[in-house]
Amino acid sequence: MSEELIPLNQLGENPYAQVLCYPRPTPLEVEARLKELASLEVLGLLMRGEKNVGGLKVLGKGCVGVVVEGIRRGVPVAVKVRRVDANRSDMSFEAEMLRQANSLGVGPKLIAASVNFIVMEYVEGPYLDDWIAQGREPAFTRHVLRDLFQQCHILDVTGLDHGELSNASKHVVVSKKGRPVILDFESASLNRKTANLTSLIQYVYFRSRSPIPKLLGEPPRQELIQALNRYKQDKGEKWFQTILALTGLAGNP
Ligand SMILES: Nc1ncnc2c1ncn2[C@@H]1O[C@H](COP(=O)(O)OP(=O)(O)O)[C@@H](O)[C@H]1O
Ligand SMILES: [Mg+2]
Repeated sequence: MSEELIPLNQLGENPYAQVLCYPRPTPLEVEARLKELASLEVLGLLMRGEKNVGGLKVLGKGCVGVVVEGIRRGVPVAVKVRRVDANRSDMSFEAEMLRQANSLGVGPKLIAASVNFIVMEYVEGPYLDDWIAQGREPAFTRHVLRDLFQQCHILDVTGLDHGELSNASKHVVVSKKGRPVILDFESASLNRKTANLTSLIQYVYFRSRSPIPKLLGEPPRQELIQALNRYKQDKGEKWFQTILALTGLAGNP
């Protein structure tokens, strides 16, 4: 299928309506969504990416949204399209969580949002594991991991819990410049006890077949578990720095 820009006046037709109103397009809903996209100044969408929706390529597909590359004001963007069968009626909560994460320097930059769409910075790059599998210099891998741990720590201290970092496989990508970006704030909360760093460390160091301990060295398990337990009670700088030291990420930039 074409990788050309599909302008709004063609997006309502098949097969593109599938992406706009996944998994069941209706003429009324398609029409409403096209108006929304126009008001968000999205010029059109590009059918390319690793995932497949109804024979069309897209950037990603989850239980809430289909994520598609788009063009807005001449710039590539990522457009998260609410599935018509999603368990939420609009995207405003996720947009608000992303806006708050952005204020801490976390997440893809929010550009615009409406009932059925979030328009955000398009982060071009592989998932964390795939990026690591590409075999970087250990020093660069450490730098990227420490950046990611710091982002989790800032979220922890601020009280914004991402909610899905214990399975980070689809929720952390690394940009071309080596910026780790945490995606998908749809399960985020300001009312839960935060567990961003502890969840991510669980994923990075304690899940079976994680490539990271092999690459960067096994951290002292008991000491790390102890430090994580202390950190759960006290998210201050002291235990965060202890965790960085135990995972070999403290020190040089
Ligand atoms: N800003 C973005 N830039 C590039 N790809 C993205 C972006 N946001 C999401 N994706 C891709 O789309 C996938 C699904 O997005 P996600 O927000 O997790 O949707 P869902 O809430 O439906 O799970 C991600 O795993 C990622 O591959
Ligand atoms: Mg997701």
